[in-house]
Amino acid sequence: MSILNKAFALIAAVIISNVVFAQGERDPHFDPVAIPEYTLPDPLTANDGTKITTAEQWKAVRRPEIYKMFSEGVYGVMPPKFETMTFTVENVKADACGGKATRKEVVINFNGQPDGVKARLLIYVPNNRAEGKKAPAFLGMNFRGNHTVTLEDDVTMTDAWVPNEPKEGRVNHKSTEKSRGKYQEHWRWPIEQIIDRGYAPCTLFMGEVAPDSPNEYLKGVAKLFPKKEVKDGSEWRAISMWAWALSCALDYLQTDPDIDGTKVAVIGHSRLGKTALWAGASDERFALVISNESGCGGAALYRRPVGERLGFMKKHFPHWFCDNLFKYADRENDLPFDMHELIALQAPRPVYVASASLDIWCDPKGEFLSACNAEPAYKLFYDNPLGDDVNPPKMPAIDTSVGGIIHYHVRTGKHGLLPWDWDKYMNFADKYMK
Ligand code: GCU
Repeated sequence: MSILNKAFALIAAVIISNVVFAQGERDPHFDPVAIPEYTLPDPLTANDGTKITTAEQWKAVRRPEIYKMFSEGVYGVMPPKFETMTFTVENVKADACGGKATRKEVVINFNGQPDGVKARLLIYVPNNRAEGKKAPAFLGMNFRGNHTVTLEDDVTMTDAWVPNEPKEGRVNHKSTEKSRGKYQEHWRWPIEQIIDRGYAPCTLFMGEVAPDSPNEYLKGVAKLFPKKEVKDGSEWRAISMWAWALSCALDYLQTDPDIDGTKVAVIGHSRLGKTALWAGASDERFALVISNESGCGGAALYRRPVGERLGFMKKHFPHWFCDNLFKYADRENDLPFDMHELIALQAPRPVYVASASLDIWCDPKGEFLSACNAEPAYKLFYDNPLGDDVNPPKMPAIDTSVGGIIHYHVRTGKHGLLPWDWDKYMNFADKYMK
């Protein structure tokens, strides 16, 4: 590493560790310069030692084995969905966004009971479509409520628990009128940009499914299920609940007359990027999967001690992952899997992993290598899944979208989901979803 690179890495480490987290919380493994040797588990060696050489073996043997490791060992086991789930379409507006889209809100009642847990799915279907043509869609959760991602003032405001931020109109854990349209710049759903490209943006608020707090997360869909008596560390936590709800939302989208339910991409940023990857792994009906800066517990490899580590997560976000994962805090190299295998679970579907250059907390290189190391699984389906312009372990040039059916970019700048990123995702989706 050149002196300049070292200096850059050190400055980035100091800025991020001081700004994002209080002094004293700095992770000892933060230094991106010191990365010991590691060996990644082979996605193509089955538990009994058999070498997986065909797509059929992958589907029948190895994929289920890897899925089980992630289900019982990372995110926690999802219960089945309720057959009694209902969907009610409300608040339809045919001329939303200056006539560009038809907006609707779909109330998902997860168990269909009058006192059941409900979440609202906000959908904008582009109006400019050929006669009878259904729109492909992007589905993902939002961080602060549907009413925060749009400037339309008649979208229903969530009454679910929200983190307090008076400046943004969130007080006593409730949203106020002031919070409308105040979506955080870095967590953006650029509704009109997506509509203009011919896609339907579809989003629901994570907090209506599981409030994002260790003390609150059981007050969403978890209420619908009996408490497990024997605890074996694989009980589902918030990320599994969010992913489960995305699958419920897809159930609806597959019935919507304006949406092509076979062309729904699942997308998420940061903690919701972890969620998107888990949703894509859990529900193979998602046609394309996008992880935007999902970092630790998402695309980043655990075996690279850079950025966020399990010990930090265990302390700050115990409600995201199941207890079995946290047994590996401070001994990540002993994990029986690594995150390239989560990317491999997306095969044979198109997958896009992305990072930001200053987002050392997410370990951009770890995210890149994870995508690259999913290649063996994709090779069972395609000749050249990474394309010709990817040469691991060398990082691709900044601000360049590279790869084949496995795609990657590292954007200049900080942690965030920006219009630039969306542009690249839609270019990619144009190849597979139109
Ligand atoms: C924190 C956390 C990350 C997470 C991020 C986010 O930084 O450490 O794991 O991805 O929040 O969701 O914004």
